[in-house]
Amino acid sequence: MTVLVAYASGLGSTAEIAQHMASRLAAAVDAVECRSVEEVESVSGYEAVIVGSAIHNQAWLSPAAAFFSRLAPELATRPVWAFSVGMADALPKPFRKHAAALQLKRVGELLPPEVPLRGHVIFSGVYQSDQMPAPLRIVFRLAGGRFGDLRNWADVNAWTDHIAADLAKPTA
Ligand SMILES: Cc1cc2nc3c(=O)[nH]c(=O)nc-3n(C[C@H](O)[C@H](O)[C@H](O)COP(=O)(O)O)c2cc1C
Repeated sequence: MTVLVAYASGLGSTAEIAQHMASRLAAAVDAVECRSVEEVESVSGYEAVIVGSAIHNQAWLSPAAAFFSRLAPELATRPVWAFSVGMADALPKPFRKHAAALQLKRVGELLPPEVPLRGHVIFSGVYQSDQMPAPLRIVFRLAGGRFGDLRNWADVNAWTDHIAADLAKPTA
């Protein structure tokens, strides 16, 4: 079985998550390829697909959204998982869970309904202070917000292992 991990990344953190997932999956399946969505013309050579995108301005990056729409007929006939990378864990603690759930719902609603997903999760990525206008930074910090590499690799590993376990199940 060959699995594709495809990603769209603005500043690199989503690409690194995709590469990490692909390396981890390699121990569980015959072959894994990790590619930018823009490099993928067809998914016909893959038995399963994982697609991830950074969230910018409340939505997937346009190459990821285009990948999903363009390849919807092929994607609809194989298992597909999606992951989104946002900044919920940068927010003050009481808002993190709710913000992540809201963002996941919003992004999910923008994906083509004809591609059933086996799962869609949201991870936090990297959110640096220079991504926020300077006058807001101090207020953000005072309110409990934080900047930095907020990726939780244990969560990424757990989700990857969940997919590996699902792929290992005999097909009905
Ligand atoms: C221009 C811009 C807009 C962003 N908009 C959002 C957003 O609407 N929601 C969110 O959760 N995170 C948002 N983020 C945070 C990014 O999703 C986060 O930094 C992520 O790690 C970016 O992934 P990338 O490095 O692959 O581009 C934004 C970041 C940038 C730079």
